[in-house]
Amino acid sequence: MRGAFDKIGVHQSARDKRSLSHAQFEGDRLLPNPISIRLFAPPDIVQTSALHLRELPDDFVTQFGERFLARYHQAFAESPYAMVIVANDYATGRVVGALLGTLDAPAHYRWLVRHHGAELALRGASRAILHPSLGRDLVGTRVDRYARGIVRALIPKQPSGERKDSLPRRVGLLAHVMVAGDYHRCGIGSSLVAAYEIRAKYAGLDQLELATLPDGWGAGPFYERIGWKHGGERMRKSGERVTLYYRMLPKDVEHDEEKATHRRRREH
Ligand SMILES: CC(C)(COP(=O)(O)OP(=O)(O)OC[C@H]1O[C@@H](n2cnc3c(N)ncnc32)[C@H](O)[C@@H]1OP(=O)(O)O)[C@@H](O)C(=O)NCCC(=O)NCCS
Repeated sequence: MRGAFDKIGVHQSARDKRSLSHAQFEGDRLLPNPISIRLFAPPDIVQTSALHLRELPDDFVTQFGERFLARYHQAFAESPYAMVIVANDYATGRVVGALLGTLDAPAHYRWLVRHHGAELALRGASRAILHPSLGRDLVGTRVDRYARGIVRALIPKQPSGERKDSLPRRVGLLAHVMVAGDYHRCGIGSSLVAAYEIRAKYAGLDQLELATLPDGWGAGPFYERIGWKHGGERMRKSGERVTLYYRMLPKDVEHDEEKATHRRRREH
């Protein structure tokens, strides 16, 4: 299915807030550069990791530097359980936005540990040695949890054998979204999120979730503006307080029928 969505769409609605450097003239009429919203391609990696570093300095993963981020983005792009969607300025070739999201977070992080875990751990550890405050934060708040996650990822999952009356809800995690500062408020962030929502719906997901920093430090008002619902606050095990948002995906009749057939078969 990935191939069918290689080009997700072209976003053309730049607003008057957009700076003139991103625009062209036709006669005396000002035209915005078209922005394409598409799936990540390997040459994007340098630009998406640099964008992450610049636009999301407070993300924990950002503390590990650009090369770590490049590998992290590669893992999202290659994973069968996740995706990277980018916004590309056609005229300049510049990647001006990116979104990293999962279709199945536990399966994705298991896959990430198996396929990129050693490289990420190596890059992370060398960064932590060079930056002792990061090392202290890692050891003090996260290392136990990460170690348990790695062990879980490496042990093959046994089927529980337990009969469940209903199918579990399928939830995706919007992990990161970022737009270059000089392209903010042009509709790019919302186009990236819309493209992710469409793909998640096609993949049969019921709901998407995300966590952002509270009290004006995160992007809560943006998510509310584009129709996501406030899902309360949570204290992470690392001690960080986050605000949760979620979006129910509209039901697809065909998919509902498939689920009902599946349920009926299990009842007989
Ligand atoms: C948050 C972010 C992705 C939004 O991208 P964007 O391209 O500027 O957003 P859009 O132009 O699509 O905005 C869609 C709507 O949300 C509004 N909006 C965007 N950012 C907003 C903000 N910070 N506060 C309130 N409203 C906001 C826009 O005005 C627009 O509303 P309108 O349709 O009424 O005009 C971008 O500001 C960004 O990259 N910020 C830094 C990284 C970040 O915080 N990422 C989220 C981490 S969880």
